[in-house]
Amino acid sequence: MSKTKAVKIAVIGGSGLYKFDHLTPIREICPETPWGYPSSNIVIVEDSRGSQIAFLSRHGVGHQYSPSEVPSRANIAALKHIGVEVIIAFSAVGSLREEIKHQDFVLPDQIIDRTKGIRPFTFFEGGIVAHTTFADPFSPLLSEIVYSHRHCLGENITLHRNKTVVCIEGPAFSTRAESHLYRSWGCDVINMSALPEAKLAKEAEIAYQMICMSTDYDCWKQDEESVSVEVVISNLKQNADNAKKLLVEILPDLEKALEEGKFEEMKGIMKGSCITSKE
Ligand code: ADE
Repeated sequence: MSKTKAVKIAVIGGSGLYKFDHLTPIREICPETPWGYPSSNIVIVEDSRGSQIAFLSRHGVGHQYSPSEVPSRANIAALKHIGVEVIIAFSAVGSLREEIKHQDFVLPDQIIDRTKGIRPFTFFEGGIVAHTTFADPFSPLLSEIVYSHRHCLGENITLHRNKTVVCIEGPAFSTRAESHLYRSWGCDVINMSALPEAKLAKEAEIAYQMICMSTDYDCWKQDEESVSVEVVISNLKQNADNAKKLLVEILPDLEKALEEGKFEEMKGIMKGSCITSKE
């Protein structure tokens, strides 16, 4: 892999957010990693003040990777390779709570794992064993920065924070019984993408926050149509526009926090996690 200038902030776009065309594209790269190629080219874009971010489309620009097939290790490794220290990851989600309406945004602070163990979920294998601390999967500082800009979304959209996302394997949506079960567990939103992305970002010592965008009420709510691709798609366009608006707003604060060394605390968090003997 050849080195390029460090870009410290990355955005991973989910369903409906395949490009970041609000900002000026500067260059595209697609580094090969030991885990293969990322799911899309990484597009470096620049705002009017010259701040650069790296944009990666999680499912591919044509949405060709299902949640189980996303090459998450290559995605995170490629971002790490170009110098990324902070990731904002967008994801369409179903709402498991009445008060989280369609098109609302949600900052989860916890995850429940309902994937089936078929996605490669660690960089540590093949004779190297490490146990990452994962009590807090998301970055409280990133969450705080995003939350402080919630008003740019306008009066009709609420940004909820400190919620729990349940990540299912898919590709089928949940049964009604599962949807009720997740509600009884205290889950607030549901998606197929929080994992293993969040775990791998932690292993790579990258500050990571997912911003969830609600598209449906899954299938627990009696007076609502059950989730389908059609229902999800009907909200994606508006969500993508709102995501871009929010991102342009938070970019200066992210840069400032990086300049002030506020994300330095991520560096070295994996020290001591490796249990394999060096002898
Ligand atoms: N993504 C968007 N809506 C979803 C749902 N209801 N379940 C899982 N993933 C989703």
